[in-house]
This record gives sequence, structure tokens and C-alpha cells, in this order.
Amino acid sequence: MRDEGEWWATAVVYQVYVRSFADSDGDGVGDLAGVRSRLGYLELLGVDALWLSPVYPSPGVDHGYDVSDPRDVDPLFGTLDDFDGLLSDARRHGLRVIVDLVPNHTSDQHEWFRAAVSAAPGSPERSRYHFRREPNNWQSVFGGPAWTRVDSDSAHSEWYLHLFAPGQPDLNWAHPEVREDLEKTLRFWCDRGVDGVRIDVAHGLAKAEGLPDDRRQPGWTVVEEDAPDPRFDQDGVHEVHRLIRGVLDHYPGRMAVGEVIVRDDARWSAYVRPDELHLAFHFGLLNCAFAADEIRECIDRTLAAAGPAPAVWTIANHDVPHPATRYGSVERARAMALVTLALPGTAYLYNGEELGLPDVDLPDSARQDPAFRLSGGAELGRDGYRVPLPWEGEAPGYGFTTGTPWLPMPSSYGELTAADQLEDPSSTLSLYRQALDLRKQHPAFTGDQVEWFGAPEGCLAFRRVGTTLVCALNTSDRQVPLPPGDVLLTSGDLTDCGDLPPNTAAWLA
Ligand code: NOJ
Repeated sequence: MRDEGEWWATAVVYQVYVRSFADSDGDGVGDLAGVRSRLGYLELLGVDALWLSPVYPSPGVDHGYDVSDPRDVDPLFGTLDDFDGLLSDARRHGLRVIVDLVPNHTSDQHEWFRAAVSAAPGSPERSRYHFRREPNNWQSVFGGPAWTRVDSDSAHSEWYLHLFAPGQPDLNWAHPEVREDLEKTLRFWCDRGVDGVRIDVAHGLAKAEGLPDDRRQPGWTVVEEDAPDPRFDQDGVHEVHRLIRGVLDHYPGRMAVGEVIVRDDARWSAYVRPDELHLAFHFGLLNCAFAADEIRECIDRTLAAAGPAPAVWTIANHDVPHPATRYGSVERARAMALVTLALPGTAYLYNGEELGLPDVDLPDSARQDPAFRLSGGAELGRDGYRVPLPWEGEAPGYGFTTGTPWLPMPSSYGELTAADQLEDPSSTLSLYRQALDLRKQHPAFTGDQVEWFGAPEGCLAFRRVGTTLVCALNTSDRQVPLPPGDVLLTSGDLTDCGDLPPNTAAWLA
């Protein structure tokens, strides 16, 4: 039995991509007051906590993942008072709040980096980052070289490392001040009352000793080649995770969830050892096709890798196409939602997933993601799944903003507004509400493991061990009989004879 303070072990967390969620002041960009105004909706949806994407002062080259001060709020999003107000309003709605920390890198406008650029090669100011006379061959995750030159007109010019955009210089985690500063940031947000932190690029907080050349051609996703990736998942990261845990252990009920992208499950498991991260995203299921065998294997792998730590399930975030697009239809996305929410552990939803939003095909002129520019257009970037949420009405802006949204909202979003879907019992939003309600109220949603039933080809069925809850999924192109039990919820209509149609999932008990 888990301790009650371990709320995060079973919670459903809703990721608010703040700039796309709700805009209170008509500048076309979502903000903290906008989030505050929609807390009632999140309570109605039935989630337990919010994860706020970064709202710190930032030039915005990677939309907030380039932080110039990790202990303040960017005026674009509001003020620290707005943050405190959001936190106390969230409490009143029964919601916890997680903030997103970005310790791998800062913005190039952070005071440390500005001081480093003004200082001489070899100076203490430069030692908080990775400056070198000659770059190595590392590639940026967004495309292009991971090094940019400063003082190019001087004989003493150097290059600095940025595994993401040039505006995101990587910090040197061997430097004691870098560690002390993260401790300070953790205490700053915990003292304000946040319930947890997401750690961005948790696998990047140490680089291979001496920054040796990369023997592979790295890319954005999990690397499969044999040679180790010298940029990520170095043993030294674990010291940093123990440091983070050391701070959080002074704040009962607080947790850290890490973004961990590594080459194998044994190495992944090390991040959730008892003195490191409480939780980590595994991403196995996120990268899985809509195919029962593959999904079953991903579920088994994720549970085995998590071991005694709670598994974290997610089919959507701000870095991957919306499920309705990725799986090929909203029916499949709805079916996968039921699979995810039936599994033991915790589930993370991404705003808009509950509306079944598809990606938007944006004109190149509207694209803002640095991945588009830095890859020379080879990657379209992530804007298509960051388009603001349609809340209500038929006029452009759809209740998100009274101004011009920072990314254009298509007219098709007008048919998917939250207001309309709340009224429609067959909508995707209604499905999520029912699923979250059952997950919270029904006694069968307990137990840490699953057992598999035999299932027709292209289908899967599992039971939560020790309970009566069964989840069945049909990824084949034929209707199939349901396993025995009373139907609690289905992601789409059953056939007239009560079979499970293709692209559909069901919960039974
Ligand atoms: C992972 C974040 O989820 C992504 O949006 C960001 O671009 C990179 N880390 C760099 O911070």
C-alpha cells in the first residue's frame, strides 16, 4: 500500500502549455490569469494536478525552454503574484500544481551567459558553461552543429555548446555554482507551495568527460545505434538527481518527474532509484504504433523498467503530434486514452488531447519552432500541435483570445470547442470526463500490475491484478467479442450484437 502523501503515484496530471491554453489580456498568447480563469473546467474534467510549461522570463526562442531567470515570471505570462494566486485558486479547485524546471541549459540572455560572453576565455564566468577553442562534431537536437562561436573577430575566439538552439547554452554540471543554483530554484518554488517539478532533459545533466567526438549521427528521438551518445545519459547525471531528491525530501508530498530519453531500459531504470527521481517518462507507449502486439510489448517494458516506481503513461505532449493525428483517427486516439487510463501508475494528459484535437497544417510563414529553422525546414517542427485551444463560440479566437492567436487557429477547431463538447455526451471531452470519474470512484482501479488475457489477433486485453477491471482494445479491422464482464465504458459504440468494433477500446468489470 502506498503512503497517502504519495499522491503522484496514481494521479492524472494535465499539461498546460501556457501560451496556448487561455489568453486573459488579448495579446494572443496564453497567460497565468488565463489558466486561473479555466480552473473550473479542469476540475470538471476530473484531473488531479496541472503541469505548467515554463513561465519564467525568457526571450522565447524555444518558447520558454530558454530561461533567463528561473525564479521569476515573464511579464508575457503575468507576475509572481499571479502565480501565487493561481496556486491558491488551484487548491480551492482540488488541483495540485507542478512547475517545469529547465536545468540542462539557460537562455543566452541569462546573466551568467551574458557575463561569460563578456569575460575572457578561461575565465570563471565561462566555466559555468562549456566553452572550447575548437568545437567537436556534436549535433544539436534541433539540427545543425551544437556549437556557436563567440568573438569571431578575435584571435581568442571560442565556441560554446548548445544541445538545443544557439539561444540555449548548456550548463556545466561539474560546476558547484550550477548545482547550488538549482537547489536554490527548487527551494524557491517549493517554498511558494508547488507540489512537484518536471525536470526537462533529465538525461542531459552531465556530458561525456572531455567532450569526445560523437561516433554516431544523432537525431531527435531515442538513439538506437551501438555507440554511446556522449551528449546524454552519462553516469554523472545521477549525482544531480540525488541532489534534487535531497532538496525535495525536505518538503513532504513534493515530487520530481523527469524527462528521460535513454538508449535502454536498464539505464532508464537507474533514474527512478529510491534516492533519485520519483517518476520518469518512459515514452515507450508514446512512440508505439496503433498495433496491439506492439502496445502490449511497450506496456510490459514500461512496467518492468519502472520496477517499484509508479509507471508514467502518456500518449501526448507538446513535443509530439496530437494522438488524433498520430494514430490516424480520433477513434483510435479515444481507444488509446482508455488503455492509458486503465493502466497502473500515473497518467499525463496534454491540453487539447481531451478535445480530440488534430494537428494543424500551418503555413511555413507561421512556424515558430526553432527546429524548423535550424533543420533548414527538414523538420516541420512542433507548432502544429501547439495551436491554441478552442474554448467556445464560432468566431476566430474561439474564446482563447480576443486578439490574434500566436499561431493561427483553423476554422475546423470551431467544431471542437470545449463548450460544445461539454454538452455532447458522445464527445471526446465527455469520454475523458467519464473515464476520469470512473478511475477515481470505481474500486477496481487499484493494483500495481497487469495480467494479460488471450485475445484475437490484433487485439489485447488486460486485467489489473487483484481487481476485476479489464481493458480490451481492438486494433484489427474486424469486430471481436468482448471478454466477460459488465461494460463500464467504451471509446465508441459497440456493434448491434455487442462486439467490440475496430479502433475501439472497452472497460469491463
Ligand atoms: C524538452 C522539452 O519538452 C522541449 O519542448 C524542449 O524544446 C527541449 N526539452 C529543450 O529544453
